[in-house]
Amino acid sequence: MHIKTSAKAVKADLLVLPVYKTKKLNVSGLTKSHELEAQQAFARKIFKGDIGETLILHNHKDSKALYKTVALLGLGEEKDFNLHKAKEAGSKIASVASASKSSTVAVSNPKQDYGVWMAFAGYLNSYKFTRYLSKKEGVALNSITVVGENKNSSKLAKDLTNTKNAMFYTRDLVNTTSNEIGPKAMVEKAKKLAKQTKSRITVLNRKQLEKMGMGSILAVGQGSKDGPYMVTIEYKNSPEKGQKPIAIIGKGLTFDTGGINLKPTGHIETMKQDKAGACTALGILKYLHETGYKGHVIFAIGIAENLIGSGAIRPGDIIKAYNGKTIEITNTDAEGRMVLADTIAYTQKKYSPSHIISLSTLTGAAIIALGSDITALLSTDKKLTLAVLETAEEVDEPTWELPMYEDYCKKTKGTVSDLLNFSKSIRAGTIMGGAFLREFTSGTPLAHLDMGGTGWTDEGKPCYPSGATGVNIMLVAKTISKL
Ligand code: BES
Ligand code: MN
Ligand code: ZN
Repeated sequence: MHIKTSAKAVKADLLVLPVYKTKKLNVSGLTKSHELEAQQAFARKIFKGDIGETLILHNHKDSKALYKTVALLGLGEEKDFNLHKAKEAGSKIASVASASKSSTVAVSNPKQDYGVWMAFAGYLNSYKFTRYLSKKEGVALNSITVVGENKNSSKLAKDLTNTKNAMFYTRDLVNTTSNEIGPKAMVEKAKKLAKQTKSRITVLNRKQLEKMGMGSILAVGQGSKDGPYMVTIEYKNSPEKGQKPIAIIGKGLTFDTGGINLKPTGHIETMKQDKAGACTALGILKYLHETGYKGHVIFAIGIAENLIGSGAIRPGDIIKAYNGKTIEITNTDAEGRMVLADTIAYTQKKYSPSHIISLSTLTGAAIIALGSDITALLSTDKKLTLAVLETAEEVDEPTWELPMYEDYCKKTKGTVSDLLNFSKSIRAGTIMGGAFLREFTSGTPLAHLDMGGTGWTDEGKPCYPSGATGVNIMLVAKTISKL
């Protein structure tokens, strides 16, 4: 399942011909009958070249034809065409391939590298999570070849193939249900990847966490027989001498019931997604290994299951985190920040990283603030913010910064404890999540990506079929090489 590139036409089940919206339809390389059919459809306004519009032309028993099916794919107005639009249109490669039962696809490159991004989008949208289906139907997409290279295309094709593989790996993990991936099984997944990537892994279990005083992650996990665990994986590949490592931290709640502050129907069903931050961190590790990234990166994931029951933490309980700060649990559903609190404090103390990037489905409020396409960024460092936001544009993974507004941030302070895990009076829930995490960094620059809105999609959207999205692997992997 590679994205391939070729200077010349290649044989394939399906040829996709991207066309801009213009007055006159310009297609070349078609057989006479296809050309006629295409021109007719255009004249009759059946196909206009709007973004993402497709027209499937069937084979007229032309034995010399290189393709069984040809599809026109609209790109919209040329002046508006950009990376985001290329991906939107390219995602349709998956639907035309599936509709025409094609397993090999050729797509002609409209300009620059866009054809490669379109192939990438086609792959992203072709993903199907079939693990629990007894009958697996449909034709799998085997190859997409971009025809018409430029000097950068083959390098980009390799990079985006690696990105796609890492994203699929992350999607598979997140989509796997909580009865199959509980805390212990999540540790096993991390171990397997550590082995594959030749990285050193350390796992702290409940007993060890107790000894070390990690009261915050322990509190979250105490309602479950399984877990909690703190996992660190050290990726090291000829790092520069004297340079501190970068830490990538992920929230790994294998399920979030909300605890005693139980989530209601309509909010609880998809909470297997609450391990998306951790699974994204693992996806980044896979990507770095496969692309031979040079550097020193610490991956730390806090793993727990937020269950309800006689062992569970209660609202009003006060516990002590690893860094010594006491926390009143004003809401047992604000558990992600508590798991991350100890994970951040521990990583900071043990590895003194230069930067921390944390990934988590931290707040539902992120959906209210930015919807389900845009990841929220909370940052304590201007330079780090710029690196993240600049990369977000380059890789088309929309990210917006929310402010660490001090008057809000100070409301994480408690009266009978140092901190509150939830501050009712401040309704900017996503900002409060960031404000809480900042208390555990000891001043190390932190960029926290709240993917509460973006890690998962119920209804699906271009490039992201329903379920786990796999976003932010590319964003973080490309950001760290700028730091
Ligand atoms: N895991 C949830 C956030 C979430 C909700 C992610 C929906 C993805 C989709 C998190 O643990 C949570 O419950 N957050 C609460 C916090 C509140 C109780 C302070 C939220 O944002 O509603
Ligand atoms: Mn929760
Ligand atoms: Zn959660």
